[in-house]
Amino acid sequence: MQGLFTRKSVADCENDIAERGGLRRSLTKWHLTALGVGATIGAGIFATTGTAIVGDAVRPGAGPAIILSFILTAVACGFAALCYAEFAAMVPISGSAYTYAYASLGEFIAWIIGWDLIIEYAVGNIGVAIGWSGHFRELLEFFGIHIPAWLATDYRSASLAAAAAAGGAADAGTQYLASAMTLAPRLAGVPIIFNLPAFLAVALITMILIRGVKESADSNNVMVLLKVGLILFFIAVGAFLIRPENWTNPVDGGFMPNGWAGVSAGAAIIFFSYIGFDAVSTAAEEAKNPAKDMPFGIIMSLVICTVLYIALSAVMTGIAPWKALGTAEPMLTALEFANGPAWLLNASRFIIALGAVIAMFSVLLVFQMGQPRIFFSMARDGLLPPFIAKVHPRFKTPYVGTLITGLFVGTFAATANIAEVVDLTNIGTLFAFVLVSLGVIVLRYKEPERVRPFRVPWVPFTPMISVVACLYLMLQLPCLTWRRFSWWLLAGLLIYFLYGAFHSRLRNPDGKARFKMPWLPLAGIVVAGLLLHFVVFNSARCG
Ligand code: ALA
Repeated sequence: MQGLFTRKSVADCENDIAERGGLRRSLTKWHLTALGVGATIGAGIFATTGTAIVGDAVRPGAGPAIILSFILTAVACGFAALCYAEFAAMVPISGSAYTYAYASLGEFIAWIIGWDLIIEYAVGNIGVAIGWSGHFRELLEFFGIHIPAWLATDYRSASLAAAAAAGGAADAGTQYLASAMTLAPRLAGVPIIFNLPAFLAVALITMILIRGVKESADSNNVMVLLKVGLILFFIAVGAFLIRPENWTNPVDGGFMPNGWAGVSAGAAIIFFSYIGFDAVSTAAEEAKNPAKDMPFGIIMSLVICTVLYIALSAVMTGIAPWKALGTAEPMLTALEFANGPAWLLNASRFIIALGAVIAMFSVLLVFQMGQPRIFFSMARDGLLPPFIAKVHPRFKTPYVGTLITGLFVGTFAATANIAEVVDLTNIGTLFAFVLVSLGVIVLRYKEPERVRPFRVPWVPFTPMISVVACLYLMLQLPCLTWRRFSWWLLAGLLIYFLYGAFHSRLRNPDGKARFKMPWLPLAGIVVAGLLLHFVVFNSARCG
């Protein structure tokens, strides 16, 4: 148990960079901002807003008050962003929250964050790939290409849609998904249903990344301009199509049909659309002037996304009655309800489908590239087996980590349900935000003299508000999500005590792992598992 909270000094982190040769410092504050916006605008706004507006089987929808949900989540993210900014300016090293935790809270918490970041990056990308697939399918329809539903969705979504369709009037989207159950080929009576475009997109990106992509800030800038341009286009066209009675229609329950419960449940779902501003911190080693530019990039990208999201959600719920927006492509659905010249609506639908496909592809790329880098840092520290950090002899890319990430994301993207994946990503990322915020307080106390180019104001109050706000959003997520997240963390603990604790470079500098069965932690994990299983998750609240 000794040394569980050993910290890796910031000087050690800097040595790691020196050892592997630093990266070129070429990114300005606006490049960093573009990086943040590029990693943020994706499946969240294009594909999950519908669920947040309408709700689902386990939670109420926000209705037009989704606008308030976006503000609420932006406030929570804002406090967390300040904490990320303090760390990113002080420890300008790639590796993000994992590295910050190693320097502030010690190895054990760093491992938990690293393990948890797999949820943010890899599981998050499963959701993005599924969202991408939906819009890609819509785009192909413009060219007269029709993908049968059994090749474009997952079994669970299809069976849910089939149940909804059997229960009464279903919209075209639901009927399409339900058709997967009847049209799918069967193997031993079981319908074969999988999301082929999502799988192929991940496979393609994995291949690109293994061959090595020249990370060009300029090409990222072009994609970001496209995304932002597209959203501005939707807002501009949509502003003329708004019918204000859609915001307040008493027949549909008014502006806040499900009260505060709907707003906060919606906030926890659309948190997904904000994830990514923290990815700016992964570029810390490439920033020209990290001390000033990292905080700027993190905070500015959050501000830009917030303004766009609020305007966009106002327009969406202004164009169509909110109850109609519960689809995986809510912007396209909104336009179906608009009164306007047919050519304009059709052209808008096409532009949005195309833009969404490009936007989500760039998010996929950023996170699919980020995950192997986190694996790389963890393997370099000895917390994961060294083969994960293997670099390809010809392409010089971390190909093993990239391949593992691709297989994991691709397989689940082909078979998982987007809403469940999004919930899991949100709980995992919120948890990382909580730990980073606590890390700011701990490091202020442990190393008060360290130079902090950017300081979070009013410590410990501001980070504590961040902790409380993130915990609040976590509590809005369904019980099943908590259950999955808990199992994930317990699995992580098991791996740490059976592997990382013995191979950690920090704790075993001579490289000789001395394995002794960690009975105490193992017993602790088993007890925690039993308690969770029989007490917490079997309680009435969890159903
Ligand atoms: N924020 C990212 C997205 O919405 C994860 O796609």
